[in-house]
Amino acid sequence: MSGKATAVAGANIAFTKYWGRRDAALNTPLNPSLGLTLDNLLTTTTVEFRDDLPEDTLVIGGEPQGGKPLERVARVLDAVRDRSDEVRRARVVSENTFAAATGLASSASAFAALVRAAFGALGEELSTEELSTYARLGSGSAARSVPGGFVEWTTGKTHEESRAWSLHGPDHWDLRDVALVVSGTEKKVGSADGHGLANTSPFNDTRIRTVEAILPRVRQAIADRDLTTLGELMEHDALLMHGVMMTSTPSLLYWTPATVEGIHLVRQWREEGIPAYFTIDAGPNLHVFCEGRHADEVARRAREEMDLREDQVLVGGPGEGARLVGDHLF
Ligand code: DP6
Repeated sequence: MSGKATAVAGANIAFTKYWGRRDAALNTPLNPSLGLTLDNLLTTTTVEFRDDLPEDTLVIGGEPQGGKPLERVARVLDAVRDRSDEVRRARVVSENTFAAATGLASSASAFAALVRAAFGALGEELSTEELSTYARLGSGSAARSVPGGFVEWTTGKTHEESRAWSLHGPDHWDLRDVALVVSGTEKKVGSADGHGLANTSPFNDTRIRTVEAILPRVRQAIADRDLTTLGELMEHDALLMHGVMMTSTPSLLYWTPATVEGIHLVRQWREEGIPAYFTIDAGPNLHVFCEGRHADEVARRAREEMDLREDQVLVGGPGEGARLVGDHLF
């Protein structure tokens, strides 16, 4: 066995968000979440296990990494090694098709690609659900980036239970994500630290109860391809999550004036007859969901009315789950 493999995975943007951990060591969530694995915001990662490495090494976008990013990757690789009775350290090289740490879910695609490539390099064929539990150890939302299409990630009390699966494959519904990158700068408080603050908000318990209550309707709306219901619930939960963030101690305010401008515009487009709904992750950027037949118009209006460049408006659709590819990065 060569000990080397390469995988590609897409970001997964949540309709109902993961915010707050139940168990920090296991990286399990306070609430279940549902989201879409995309075909455009991609991470490609090559992993090679080698005899001559004293430690794991990590290069992202050509830049050698140390500190926290490397520790996070090494921790996941330790779990992979435990599962596979492997002792060799690994060389990891990764590339994104988009800027990391802008709220475009880079950690989701990154850890999904990492575990797919790592187990691939060791010749291990895990089920998609089991693979998602290893991705979760690196980044919660990465569990959702392992399966393709429309994905659910359940809370679970143990490592094995907190896993993700595909509710519907990518062909189920021609839904589009029009990502509006209003800021490309790195956020001050990443989601890894932000999750630990959720419980300090007086609104957190209410939000968790609300998400659990709306989940069956979100599932049904996806099954029925009912954008009105999905969109209303999606916006509601994004605002609930940002309400929790803003009222945490310390307060997390990820929005900029451009984020608020985007919210108003999406609502105005709806009044004018374009069915489009926003959601916002732990950053200032918006994800506007609409059906394929409206995607060009949404993208054009975002560029014109928000003065965004071509490369700040990224249109994606439902994508495949994390998969092995033949072209290695080294
Ligand atoms: C707001 O999965 O990025 O995007 O486990 O610390 O990496 P870590 O957190 P992460 O949190 C995602 C937060 C979110 C909502 C979501 O994608 O569900």
